[in-house]
Amino acid sequence: MSTNPRSTIPFSRDALDQVLKRRFFFAPAFEIYGGVSGLYDYGPPGCAFQANIVDTWRKHFILEEDMLEVDTTMLTPYEVLKTSGHVDKFADWMCKDLKTGEIFRADHIVEEVLEARLKGDKEARGISVAPVEESDDKKKRKKKVKEIKAIKLDDKEVAEYENILAQIDGFSGPQLGELITKYNITNPATGGVLEPPVEFNLMFETAIGPSGQLRGYLRPETAQGQFLNFSKLLEFNNEKMPFASASIGKSFRNEISPRAGLLRVREFLMAEIEHFVDPNDKSHPKFEAFKDLKLRFLPKGVQESGSTELIEESIGDAVASGMVDNETLGYFLARIYLFLTKIGVDANRLRFRQHMSNEMAHYAADCWDAELHTSFGWIECIGCADRSAYDLSVHSARTNEKLIVRQPLAEPLIVEKFEIEIAKKKFGPKFRKDAGAVEKWLLARTQCELEDLAKELKDEGKITFEVSGVEGKIELDTEFVKIEKVTRTEHIREFTPNVIEPSFGIGRIIYCIFEHQFWARPEDEARAVLSLPPLVAPTKVLLVPLSSNSELQPVVKQVSAALKKELIPFKVDDSSASIGKRYARNDELGTPFGITIDFESVKDLSITLRERDSTKQVRGSIEDVISAIKGITYENKSWTEGTSKLSPFETQAAE
Ligand code: GLY
Repeated sequence: MSTNPRSTIPFSRDALDQVLKRRFFFAPAFEIYGGVSGLYDYGPPGCAFQANIVDTWRKHFILEEDMLEVDTTMLTPYEVLKTSGHVDKFADWMCKDLKTGEIFRADHIVEEVLEARLKGDKEARGISVAPVEESDDKKKRKKKVKEIKAIKLDDKEVAEYENILAQIDGFSGPQLGELITKYNITNPATGGVLEPPVEFNLMFETAIGPSGQLRGYLRPETAQGQFLNFSKLLEFNNEKMPFASASIGKSFRNEISPRAGLLRVREFLMAEIEHFVDPNDKSHPKFEAFKDLKLRFLPKGVQESGSTELIEESIGDAVASGMVDNETLGYFLARIYLFLTKIGVDANRLRFRQHMSNEMAHYAADCWDAELHTSFGWIECIGCADRSAYDLSVHSARTNEKLIVRQPLAEPLIVEKFEIEIAKKKFGPKFRKDAGAVEKWLLARTQCELEDLAKELKDEGKITFEVSGVEGKIELDTEFVKIEKVTRTEHIREFTPNVIEPSFGIGRIIYCIFEHQFWARPEDEARAVLSLPPLVAPTKVLLVPLSSNSELQPVVKQVSAALKKELIPFKVDDSSASIGKRYARNDELGTPFGITIDFESVKDLSITLRERDSTKQVRGSIEDVISAIKGITYENKSWTEGTSKLSPFETQAAE
C-alpha cells in the first residue's frame, strides 16, 4: 500500500465542515426555510468537483471499456419495482422512542451506542454520573466512585461488543430488537425506551398523471432502467457478449433519520455499471493485466468470526483462492481501486468488505463494497454486486418478453427438453382479446416451469394459471396445449446473462475525499488545505497579480487568454488582500496551482508557478508554465517531470 503522509493525520470534521461551508462546496437545501434533513445543494466548487469526478468516471469506465451509456427516467411505475422486489424488500429497520417520537435507524443506534460505550462514553450507557467534587462528603464520594467504575466495561463485555460491531451490517430487524433489549440501548439524548424495530420501505411513492391511478416511485437505483433496455442494448452491440451498460443519474431513498451530511442523503447522484456476462464464463480478458494489484479485503468469514482484521493480497490470489468469486468481479474491484486513488481517495483508508450472507440485497448473489474510512467510521461508497440472472429473469417472467442471449453453438448439441405446443386456432374463440397475452405467458415459461406444467397436465388433465392483466383463473386441457419432453438437435444456445454491477455513490465518494485530503499547515493551524488532485480540483489555477498597478494588467490578460485557449479552468484574484491571504483562500478551495504576475513579468513575460501543497515556486515563460500545468493536471506527470523546463524561484512576498 502506498505511503501517504496524510493517512496519519487525525480527521478534523468540525474544521473541514467550516471550510466546506465557507467556500460553498455544498449547503443544506432550503436553508432559509430551516432546511430538510438529507437534502443538499452544491455550490460552484462542489459542482465543478462533482463534474470533474463524473468526467473521470466516464473516461475510466465507459470509454475504457466501450460501455453503452443510457439515461433512463427517474419516475418508475409500481409494476416495475414490484417485480424487481423493491416494493416488498427495499427496506431498513427503524425504532421509535416511545416518549419523544424520535425515530432511529435500528442498526445505526445499536452501532452508535455500543461504539460510544467502548470509548467510555457514560451517557451512552444511560448512566449519568456527576463528577467527584471537593465538597463531597466521604459517603457521597464513595458512591460516585462506585458509579464511575460501573461505566467501565469488563473484558467479556468488550469482546461481546466488538463481536457485535464486526457483524453489525448482518443483523435482521428482530435480531436488532434483541440486542436493543439485551444491552438496554436507549435514546442517547434522553434515555428514552425504544420500540421494537419495524420495517420501513425506503422508496418515495408518487402518482404519475392527473388521475392518480398510475402508482409510481422515484427510482431507488438506476439499474432497473438498464435491465429493461437489455434487448435493445444487446442488439445495439451487434448481439455480442459480454458487454456493459452504464448510467449516471439521480436516485432517491427516503433515509431514516439522515444525520451524516453528504454521507446519508435522500437524493443522490449514482453512477452504475451493469456488466452482462455468460453465467458459464465469468473470466475477463483484461484481468491478467491487473492481477498483481494488491488490495485490502475484509471477507465475510472474518466478519462472522467477530473480527475486522484486513487481508492484504493481490486480486489474482484473491480470485484464485475463491475469496473473490470470479475474474470479472475481481477485475472491477481492481479498476475501482485505481479510479478511487486517481481522484483523491487515500489507499490506506480504503478496504473491500464482502457482504455477509444475511446482509445481501434481495437481488445479490455476492457483493463486495468499497468502503472508505472517515470520521464517521467505514462508509460504503461503492457496491460491487453479482446480481446473477435475478433481474432479467423476474422482468422476463412478469412481461413475457424474452430477455436472453442467443448464440450459435460451435458443435450442435443433442438435448432433451420440454416443449409446449399451442392449438392457436382455438385460443382466439376462447380468449378473444386476451388470446395473445395467454399465448405469450405460456411461451415464456422456463424449463422448470414447463416440467411442472407437464406433470399437472398429465395428473389433472388440465393446467390452471393466472396471467397478469387477464381476469380470473385460466384452465387449459390437452385440446389446447400439449407439453412434452422431446429430444432435439440444437444449433443455438439460449441463456439469461448474469450481471456484475459496480454501483457508485458519487456524493459519498466526494465527502470521503474531502476528509482524506484535508489538513492544516503545521506553522499555522488556521491555514487549511484541501489537497484535491489537479485532475479533479474544481479550479486548476489561481492567477494573482502581485499588485493592483495597472502595468500588470496586460500580462494578466495575456495569461488569462492562454489558459482559456487551453481550456484550463482558472480564476483571477486581483483583490487587495495580501498574496498570502489570496493563496490561503484558494488552498481551502483545493486549487492546485498559483500563477503570480509581478513587475519582472512586464519586462520579460516570465511568470511564477506555485504548488499548493509544498508552496514550492518555479519560474519560466507563459508557454512553459502552462505546459507544466497541463502535463501535471491532464497527463499524469509528477511535479518534477512537469516543471523540468522551469527554474526554482525564491518568493518575493511572504505568504
Ligand atoms: N444498484 C445498487 C444499489 O441500489 O445500491
